[in-house]
Amino acid sequence: MKIAVPKERRPGEARVAVSPEVARKLAGLGFTVAVEKGAGAGASFLDEAYQEAGATIAKDAASALKGADIVLKVQAPTIQGGEGKNELAMMKEGAILIAALSALTAKKEVAAYAKAGITAFAMELMPRITRAQSMDVLSSQSNLAGYKSVLDAAAEFGRAFPMMMTAAGTVAPAKVFVMGVGVAGLQAIATAKRLGAVVTATDVRPATKEQVESLGGKFLEIDPEMEKDAQTEGGYAKQMPPEYLEKQKKVVAEHVKSQDIVITTALIPGRPAPELVTEEMVKSMHAGAVIVDLAVEAGGNCALSQPGKVIVKHGVKMVGHLNVPSRLAEDASALYAKNLLNFITPLVDSETKALAIDWEDEIVTGTLVARDGKVVHPALGGKGD
Ligand code: NAI
Repeated sequence: MKIAVPKERRPGEARVAVSPEVARKLAGLGFTVAVEKGAGAGASFLDEAYQEAGATIAKDAASALKGADIVLKVQAPTIQGGEGKNELAMMKEGAILIAALSALTAKKEVAAYAKAGITAFAMELMPRITRAQSMDVLSSQSNLAGYKSVLDAAAEFGRAFPMMMTAAGTVAPAKVFVMGVGVAGLQAIATAKRLGAVVTATDVRPATKEQVESLGGKFLEIDPEMEKDAQTEGGYAKQMPPEYLEKQKKVVAEHVKSQDIVITTALIPGRPAPELVTEEMVKSMHAGAVIVDLAVEAGGNCALSQPGKVIVKHGVKMVGHLNVPSRLAEDASALYAKNLLNFITPLVDSETKALAIDWEDEIVTGTLVARDGKVVHPALGGKGD
């Protein structure tokens, strides 16, 4: 059976779906692996490394994809329009596509996969259960984004992070405030602490207080009573009522005035990101302060941040980098590839080396979006499979 690893074609994407290490493991599972020439270049994986791992290098996307039974990608395949090639048209009918498809916001594309006879798995829909932790691409990528957000803040900040007592005077430690303590926020707290900052953080989910404190941060409490019902069964945040958001704005407004760096990571699945930092709050911050908005692609947590730009307004720098995991493409690709390997391994019969998918498995039903010409995921209006 053939696995294809095409080069990512979307602008700003430096990652690749399979690392040489994972290519070797896939070959060990009995697959032939075809990697498009230069696919790993953005992640510092050379063609030779893939060849040494037992993969073949295909001269272009069409030859990588030709006859492939499984197609592994980071982002959704290109279909039509200004993004260059139509990868979908190069895939054979019946091929399995595994990628972060942003399926909930790309219904038309999912319908196109179904129409093309593709069996498509959307990795971002992985259920958050213990068994699926090693396949969770949102976690592996958010963790790196949280780390990088602090480095991006440090690079833009005109002062140091740690306290320094020197003969020429004392440098005060930077004050870092992290809003949203999920996977990215926790790593941002840990990274800022390691750099010597004084860290505070806040979240609507009460469980996060202890997590912040265990990392040496201080938790900024908003309203523990209203937060009792803030978490879904799946561990995600719910949209909070307007009274809570008003109260949160007051508490946060008072707090941000004294902060040097604000890192926002707050997301609510399937909805626009909540606005947590208003223009008034930005105005109240000192010149040279930095805000890194990791939620910028989902509409932004800061009213002024702009997707893909670093801007200065009211003397405050606002960092809105897109696709932050791609800024650490080597690690991000290596972890993403492991997530895919952990997902694929149970789909293959270790004796016969043939695909043996349990279509009833929660991990399969949770991620499967198209099969047998139909859109099947309930969240996309499908009836399940
Ligand atoms: P996320 O990326 O969806 O959101 C980031 C954070 O923003 C969350 O902590 C959320 O509570 C917070 N937030 C949302 N609205 C907010 C508001 N108005 N104000 C302040 N904060 C707000 O979340 P992520 O990082 O994907 O993690 C969510 C949960 O899932 C965590 O509890 C995590 O531990 C859990 N998880 C479980 C996994 C598993 O069991 N397989 C794997 C990964 C995460």
